[in-house]
Amino acid sequence: MADPFQNVDAAGEEFISAFADSMDERQSDPTMEKIVSKYLGRLEFSEDSLTVEVGCGAGAVTRRIAEKAHPGRVIGFEPSVGFVNEAKARVGKYDNVEFVVADGASLPLDDGAVDILVLHTVLTHVKDPEPLLTEARRVLKSGGYLVVCDADFSKASLGNMPNDPLDACAKVFVSEFVTDPHAVAKLQGLATNAGFSVQDLSFQSRSVLDNDQMLPWVEETGKVLMKRGEIGEALHNGLVAEYRRRAKEGTLYGYQVFATLIARCP
Ligand SMILES: C[S@@+](CC[C@H](N)C(=O)[O-])C[C@H]1O[C@@H](n2cnc3c(N)ncnc32)[C@H](O)[C@@H]1O
Repeated sequence: MADPFQNVDAAGEEFISAFADSMDERQSDPTMEKIVSKYLGRLEFSEDSLTVEVGCGAGAVTRRIAEKAHPGRVIGFEPSVGFVNEAKARVGKYDNVEFVVADGASLPLDDGAVDILVLHTVLTHVKDPEPLLTEARRVLKSGGYLVVCDADFSKASLGNMPNDPLDACAKVFVSEFVTDPHAVAKLQGLATNAGFSVQDLSFQSRSVLDNDQMLPWVEETGKVLMKRGEIGEALHNGLVAEYRRRAKEGTLYGYQVFATLIARCP
C-alpha cells in the first residue's frame, strides 16, 4: 500500500477525520509543543510578515504559527480538500490565518512573497522532496527562513523487549504510512542543493510512556493487516489492549527522534 499521506483525499473520510484528531493530539504532546515553540522562537516575525506552512494538514501546527505570528498573516497550504475543511473547522480564534488547497511544488504565490516557510512532517511523506524545496526557494524573500521539522522514522520504535509484537506494529506502521523513513538524513544536502544556507540542524528525542499518542501506530496498522486478511480482529484487539495495558502500568516505551533544520535564503 502507498503511504496514504501522498493522497489523503483518496484515503477517505474516516482516515481524514482519524488523522486530523491524531495530528492535533500529537501536537499537544509537551515534547512536540517544545519542538515547535523552539523553532518559532528562532524566527523573526513582524506585523507585515507572511508566514506559510506547506502541507499543513488539519492545521495543528498552523494554529501555533498563527499565535506567534499575530498580527502577521499566515497561510496554510495543503493538497487535501478534506484536511483543508478540517483545518477551517478547527481554526478557532485565529483571524490572521487562511487555508488554501495547493501542492507544495506549485504554490499560488509570487516569487519572493514569503518571509517564513515551514514544512512540518511533510517531506517524509513525499516521493521527491526536491520540487517542494525548489518552490520554497522561489517564494521566499532574500533573507527569508525555511524551517523543516520531521521525524527520523527509521529510528522509531515501540518495543521494550526483543521481537516485541508492538514494535512489529510500529515497523509495519512506518512501512505503510511513511514514504521515506530516512528523509531526515538527507535534509542538509537537500536544503543546500536548493540554494539555502543551513543555519542549524538540531535533534530532539520524544518518548511516549503513559498515553495514547502512539496508539494509532497499533490501531491503524491493525486495520491495514485485517483489511488484507493477514490478521483477525481478535489479534488486532489484543494488540490494542496490550498497548493500553502497558500505558496504564508504566511499561510502554515509544521512542522517536525529531530533526529541525533552519535555513535562510541568500
Ligand atoms: C503527517 S501530515 C502533517 C500535517 C501537518 N503539517 C501537521 O504536522 O499537523 C503530512 C501532510 O503532508 C501533506 N502532503 C503530502 N504531499 C504533499 C505535497 N506534495 N505538497 C504539500 N503537502 C503534501 C499531506 O496531505 C499531509 O497533510
